[in-house]
Amino acid sequence: MAYSGPFKAGDRVQLTDPKRRHHTIILKEGGIFHTNKGQIAHDDIIGADEGTVVTSTLGTEYLCFRHLLVDHVLSMPRGAAVIYPKDSAQILMEGDIFPGARVLEAGAGSGALSMSLLRAIGEKGRLISYEVREDHLDYACSNVDEYFGGRPEQWEPRLGDLREATVENLGGPMDRVILDMLEPWECLETAKNILIPGGVFMTYVATVPQLMKVMEGIREQRCFTEPKAWESLVREWKVEGLATRPEHRMNAHTAFLVMARRLADGVTPPRPQRKVRR
Ligand SMILES: C[S@@+](CC[C@H](N)C(=O)[O-])C[C@H]1O[C@@H](n2cnc3c(N)ncnc32)[C@H](O)[C@@H]1O
Repeated sequence: MAYSGPFKAGDRVQLTDPKRRHHTIILKEGGIFHTNKGQIAHDDIIGADEGTVVTSTLGTEYLCFRHLLVDHVLSMPRGAAVIYPKDSAQILMEGDIFPGARVLEAGAGSGALSMSLLRAIGEKGRLISYEVREDHLDYACSNVDEYFGGRPEQWEPRLGDLREATVENLGGPMDRVILDMLEPWECLETAKNILIPGGVFMTYVATVPQLMKVMEGIREQRCFTEPKAWESLVREWKVEGLATRPEHRMNAHTAFLVMARRLADGVTPPRPQRKVRR
């Protein structure tokens, strides 16, 4: 996929009208995009720089940009709910996803997190994504392939339950394990067995009972640091003269994030010291 340069046939382009409504088209030589505001010839866009403005036959102006990853994730077809970009960003940073990392992910779902992980690990990394549902894996594969313009070599989607993963069938231990599924506590033993000492475990859970259960499960494994739990809240602002204020609407809750690190083999986790209450 081209990330920059003048538009070419085959590019996915987002057109934005003056009311900030989006339309996505795939450029084709001789193609015509029909709207109720008139027609736009694809040939008017092919060869132009990103950020160009095209005018429909009825005089409406449209801004033209390629999709950013965030646009692709929010507009792509999905089988399972995706991890929102604000949370993927947390996972990349707090999960310390580095170029060349060996990462195990489950479930692949719609492939949203897979795409962010693939970009962060780069061509020298390796991402194995387990997904137990074939229909969900099909979404993940087609969304990833479409975004990257083909199957990234560093990606291995696998149909199956994560609990089937072993160091042997993964081809070696993993640096990072990231879970987004209903019952991540069922996969803690697997995560324990395949993570390197110092490796990072992260999971993403939507509800308080899930959070409580996975935190307890991590502690019971006795091979992880004391898990950290948090959520991220992102609130947009409207900035227009004296009307400057937070937006009325926001995605107030998506999910909780949990992170812990794998201890060296044979080490028991130091007991967390709690403050003495008087
Ligand atoms: C919320 S979706 C994941 C969404 C994905 N992270 C994304 O951003 O597109 C959860 C997925 O986990 C899968 N799943 C649940 N348990 C699993 C397991 N033990 N092994 C593999 N996949 C599992 C489900 O089938 C579902 O597709």
